[in-house]
Amino acid sequence: MKITELIKTRRSIKQFKQTPIGEEELHSWLEAASYAPNHRMTEPWELLFIGPNTRAKLKHKTDFGNAPVVFAVLSKPAATAFERDENVMAAACFVQNFLLAAHEAGVGTYWASLGALPHNREILNVQENYDVIGIFGMGYPEEMPNAKPRTPISSKITYLS
Ligand SMILES: Cc1cc2nc3c(=O)[nH]c(=O)nc-3n(C[C@H](O)[C@H](O)[C@H](O)COP(=O)(O)O)c2cc1C
Repeated sequence: MKITELIKTRRSIKQFKQTPIGEEELHSWLEAASYAPNHRMTEPWELLFIGPNTRAKLKHKTDFGNAPVVFAVLSKPAATAFERDENVMAAACFVQNFLLAAHEAGVGTYWASLGALPHNREILNVQENYDVIGIFGMGYPEEMPNAKPRTPISSKITYLS
């Protein structure tokens, strides 16, 4: 699939099959994702794979759509607020790379932001000054939702003289 088609056909998946995901394959998507742009080569992303006990404590409303794999992506701290923002942006680039690599293999993802809530940071044992980019449920989709329409990009563009 062309990259533009991959981007446009990715969906947030809300319900997953129980089919397991190969560990090697998963690592290959993470490794590919690490080629994300990141200023000063900070490579700020870190991953927490969430086991059943921790997952139960998070009390997610659908248990991440019963995804066979759940993990969190963190962005590491920085010396200044500016650099911290850069880290978060780079970590989000890492995530999008990962989502697309998984999608290319037919694997879907669910991005949940609840990991950033103070009580969930505690459950995840996230160290101070780390940002939680998201918690991700991942698996083969049970169903593929329709695309949510996007605003025409021309309305988002301003040309400066
Ligand atoms: C930073 C971020 C946080 C998100 N948090 C949630 C969330 O907590 N719950 C949820 O259902 N979707 C969450 N999403 C997914 C969006 O709702 C989803 O991407 C959007 O509805 C567009 O749908 P699509 O991904 O299928 O194109 C999040 C996405 C991003 C980028």
